[in-house]
Amino acid sequence: MRIAVIPGDGIGVDVTAEAMKVVRASGDAFGRRFDVETLPWSASHFLQTGVTLPPDGFTLLRAFDAVFVGALGDPRVPDHRHAREILLGMRFELDLYVNYRPVRLLDDRLCPLKNRTTSDVNFVVFRENTEGLYVGVGGRFKAGTEDEIALQEEVNTYKGVHRIVRHAFEYAKAAGRPEVCMADKSNAMTDGHALWQRVFREVSARYPEVAARHLYIDALALQMVQEPAQFSVIVTNNLFGDIITDLGAALQGGLGLAASGNLHPGRTSMFEPVHGSAPPLAGKNVANPMGAVLSAALMLEYLGATDEARAIEAAVRQAVTARQGTRDIGGALGTRETGDYIARAVGKAPA
Ligand code: NAD
Ligand code: IPM
Ligand code: MN
Repeated sequence: MRIAVIPGDGIGVDVTAEAMKVVRASGDAFGRRFDVETLPWSASHFLQTGVTLPPDGFTLLRAFDAVFVGALGDPRVPDHRHAREILLGMRFELDLYVNYRPVRLLDDRLCPLKNRTTSDVNFVVFRENTEGLYVGVGGRFKAGTEDEIALQEEVNTYKGVHRIVRHAFEYAKAAGRPEVCMADKSNAMTDGHALWQRVFREVSARYPEVAARHLYIDALALQMVQEPAQFSVIVTNNLFGDIITDLGAALQGGLGLAASGNLHPGRTSMFEPVHGSAPPLAGKNVANPMGAVLSAALMLEYLGATDEARAIEAAVRQAVTARQGTRDIGGALGTRETGDYIARAVGKAPA
C-alpha cells in the first residue's frame, strides 16, 4: 500500500511522526508492508521555494492509495495561501466530498459533561467537503476603506448536497445506525438551504429502514451538549460541519483525540486529525498524537487493512484508559513517548 505523507506545519510534524510509527508497528504485527513517501509541502517549503505544491501535485497524489496530512497553518503565511492551496486544494481537486468525522468518547473521565459515559457520546458527522462557503467565490470592493463591501458566496448544488446526504444514509444502513439527522439553517438561508430540505426529503424516502430527522444547526449545537446520546449520524454543510466537529472534539476529550477522513469512495482519499498546527505547541513534544493515530486507523480501514486498524484503535483506547498519554488528557507522557506506548500496545494486540 502506497501512502503519501504531508506532515505540514507546527504540531502536524510532531503528530505525523507518531502516527507513522504506529502504522509501521501495525504492519509489523500483521505482516504487511506500507510504502510511505513523505512530501515536504508546508509553510517552510513555501517560504523557501515560493511553491505551495508543484503544478502536477494532485496528479502525483492520485498515484497513491491514500494521503495522510498532519496540519497546515503558520503565522508566517498570514493569508493562509499554502493551507488553502494544499489542504482545501486536495479536498476540491481530488473531489473528496465526504468529510467523515467520528465523535466517540473513549473514557468517561474525558467527557466535559456531567454524568455522561462512553455510551452517551458515539456518533458520526458527515460534513459536505467540496462546496458551501468554502468555494472561494466572492470578492472585496473598496477594500480597506469605510465603504468596503465584502462578499463570500455559499454554493449549494443538487449534485453536491445529494451525494453527501446519500452517503450518510448508505453509511447508516450499512453500520446499523438508526437515524440520520440533517442540520441546516433553512429558516434564515431560505434559498441555499431549501435545496438541502428538498434533497433530504427525496433521499430519506429511499431509506425506510433509517429514520430521518431535521434540526436547525443552532438547535443541534444545543442538543449536542445537552443530550449527545440522541445522535447517531449527522449530515451538514461544509462550514457548519467544521464548527460542530470542534464541538464534537470537546465532547471526546479535546482536539487532540479527534480523527477524520476526507473521502471520495473508491478513489485516493486523505486522512488528517481534526486539529490544526497549534503553533505554540510545535516541536515541544507536548501535542497529543492520538487524533493523528486514530486518523491513520481510519485510513487503514479505508484501505482494507482492517486488522491493523482495529489493533490501533484498541491500543489507543487502552492507552487512554491507562492514562498513558499527553497532558491535555491527564497523562504525563510526551508526544513521542505516547507514540511509543501505542506502537508497543499494537504489537501486543491479539490478532
Ligand atoms: P488548533 O487546532 O491548532 O488549536 C486549537 C487549540 O487546541 C489550541 O489550544 C491547541 O493548543 C489545542 N490543540 C490542538 N491540537 C492539539 C493536540 N494535538 N494536542 C494538544 N492540544 C491541541 O487551532 P487554531 O489555533 O485555531 O489554528 C492554528 C493553525 O492551524 C491556523 O493556521 C489554522 O488555520 C490551522 N488549522 C489547520 C487545520 C488543518 O490542517 N486541518 C485545522 C484547523 C486549524
Ligand atoms: C478543518 C480546518 C480547516 C477547515 C481550515 C484549516 C481551513 O479547520 O479541517 O477542520 O475549516 O476545514
Ligand atoms: Mn476545523
